[in-house]
Amino acid sequence: MKTLSVSNLIGIKYLQKNDISLIFELATHFKEVINRPIKKVPSLRDVTIANLFFENSTRTKLSFEIAEKRLSADIINFSSSNSSLKKGESLLDTVQNILAMKVDMIVVRHPNPGVAFFLSKKIKAIIINAGDGTHEHPTQGLLDCYSLLQKFGTLKEKRIAIVGDIAHSRVALSNIYALKKLGAEICLCSPVSLMPKNIQKLGVLQSTDLLETLKWSDAVNMLRVQRERMHQSSFPCLRDYALQYGLTKSLIEKIDKPMVILHPGPINRGIEITSEVADSNQAMILDQVENGVAIRMAVIYLLASKLKISTNESPTA
Ligand code: CP
Repeated sequence: MKTLSVSNLIGIKYLQKNDISLIFELATHFKEVINRPIKKVPSLRDVTIANLFFENSTRTKLSFEIAEKRLSADIINFSSSNSSLKKGESLLDTVQNILAMKVDMIVVRHPNPGVAFFLSKKIKAIIINAGDGTHEHPTQGLLDCYSLLQKFGTLKEKRIAIVGDIAHSRVALSNIYALKKLGAEICLCSPVSLMPKNIQKLGVLQSTDLLETLKWSDAVNMLRVQRERMHQSSFPCLRDYALQYGLTKSLIEKIDKPMVILHPGPINRGIEITSEVADSNQAMILDQVENGVAIRMAVIYLLASKLKISTNESPTA
């Protein structure tokens, strides 16, 4: 059986193009499984996974949980808000105590960049990064590219715009790494105050003009304004931001060509995207969520196959 070149999923930066292809191939099998009347396979019935969420989440947390259940893994869910972290326990002590309960794999979301990497140096369990601060959100990057592939067949030389709060976005960085590995051209569009310095070193174009960026693009990924990560506002006011960088129906009509629209969620309706656009046929927002379950099943299955205890059964049987 083919395997991934990595033992943990810390970031797309560390994946080879072949790893991404393997994940997508298996995700396509799992997408068929989750659309069957019985949406479950017994592949990981000997594997125990802990979902460790130190930051709020709807999509990622539930998507991992349902992916694990569809693979028949045993799961435990940890949420920092009602844990002994409140009594002063450290991150590492918390994780080591959970692992002492014979957990094989952890899925971790944390507000601080580098937490998944830090844990990978300290513990023996397999780690999947479910978003670490402003660093990476690898499964989101994978599901975004997989959704674009559904539309385009290939991403080679496809022009993809990533628009909005690039500076505070882990989704942007994971998308940039994944899209570059798959041969796409990328343009980042944001106010200067939300564009990270030296980002052009990653081989991306930059713009501050949304209309010009849209005219150039085949698809656009609209990012949320992440006010929870801003110590002070990065623009005069939200209304001003929405007027300059919000995706509206009238802007789309101006470009007069087909446009695929992504958004990782959660959406701030009326700020980075209007309801009319978010709910239109061009938007793939709920397709992204559906694909996320299949992508996460594939990632979990492939990493678990590195455990001696995991079964060799066909992933789709
Ligand atoms: N896309 C995403 O990470 O959403 P959540 O914060 O709800 O998990």
